Amino acid sequence: MTASPTDSAPTRFGVMGTGRITRRLVADLQSTDAVSVTAIASRSQERADWFASQYGIPAAVEGYQALLDRDDIDAVYLSLPPSLHADWCVRAAEAGKHILCEKPLATSADQANQIAQACQRFGVRWLDATGWLHHRRTAAMRALASGGRLGRLGHITAAVSFYRPFQSGEHRLDPELGGGCLLDLGWYTAGLACYFAGRSPNRVFADCIEENGVPLRTNAMLWFDDDLTASFSCGYDTATRKWFEVAGSDASVICDDFTRPWAERPTRFWVHDANGEVQAHESSDRQEQRMIQALIGQQPLEAFNQLALQTQTVLDALAESARLRQPVPVHADVSPDAPSPSC
Ligand SMILES: NC(=O)c1ccc[n+]([C@@H]2O[C@H](COP(=O)([O-])OP(=O)(O)OC[C@H]3O[C@@H](n4cnc5c(N)ncnc54)[C@H](OP(=O)(O)O)[C@@H]3O)[C@@H](O)[C@H]2O)c1
Repeated sequence: MTASPTDSAPTRFGVMGTGRITRRLVADLQSTDAVSVTAIASRSQERADWFASQYGIPAAVEGYQALLDRDDIDAVYLSLPPSLHADWCVRAAEAGKHILCEKPLATSADQANQIAQACQRFGVRWLDATGWLHHRRTAAMRALASGGRLGRLGHITAAVSFYRPFQSGEHRLDPELGGGCLLDLGWYTAGLACYFAGRSPNRVFADCIEENGVPLRTNAMLWFDDDLTASFSCGYDTATRKWFEVAGSDASVICDDFTRPWAERPTRFWVHDANGEVQAHESSDRQEQRMIQALIGQQPLEAFNQLALQTQTVLDALAESARLRQPVPVHADVSPDAPSPSC
């Protein structure tokens, strides 16, 4: 199987689903070195045909299994509603395809572990499509936090939201499809807290404002060992926000577009010192292409995989807390010694 950008043949991707994010990721795949998009699958042949003709994809396939059965596919990009991720990732692994799966990886830690185990059993590589982890500035921000520039870490806070009066049929409003902001946007904020803390929280609390059985807004608190805390807010009822602050005893690092840099602006973050000094950092990178390169390359993916499993475990605990309306412990299966993504 072709899985290296250094091989002469490109890694051939098949795409599962024709939703909104698919359009962007197909363009990212097509603009990544050593990658080609060979086929796209939809539940409907008509939609697959339309998408293939719009995006210059050679083959349009009806049904996701038909895509997995093809031998001109080395890897799949899976952009289905969250409740379908685990089943199709496991089937993709069984078919020997490497996997780039949209976030959230799954709808529970059990499902996420099933994906990881299937990929290990069938010897395929996998990544959740959490692009921000692959941006160069992410490692730079993390180095500030872990390298002592901020002093002793005290609190991490984040907000991710967008305001959208949804159309009917939107999977984000359907509990059966894994809808709701906790999985959709809490994936970023809970993952960010674990990433900067370098460990799982030991206890969490979440409060959700719900509609039709899915959270539309979630506010959460996370407690880590050594008096480190985190809090976040995510939801569909406020304008687009994608910021965080990691606050230490000496300084804070602040980023206002961590999930995906604002379009047409330099990618930026700031270090705020206790005396009002502000250091601005600017950089540019193509995080999705770097993520795709990581998947098809040779570098170990364990750190990314462990963070995804850890995030899913924290989301389980947050959902349980919201249900019980009280703080709950986090049962982290992930080794505290697991490496952190350093990109
Ligand atoms: N990484 C990011 O920045 C980012 C951004 C947005 C979304 N996402 C994630 O990407 C995934 C897809 O999100 P999206 O906004 O692209 O979703 P979407 O527009 O609703 O598209 C989902 C696609 O899944 C397929 N599908 C299969 N069974 C379905 C069902 N029962 N109901 C609805 N669709 C079904 C459909 O394609 P066919 O009918 O053609 O098969 C549909 O077009 C989610 O996990 C989401 O969290 C990630």
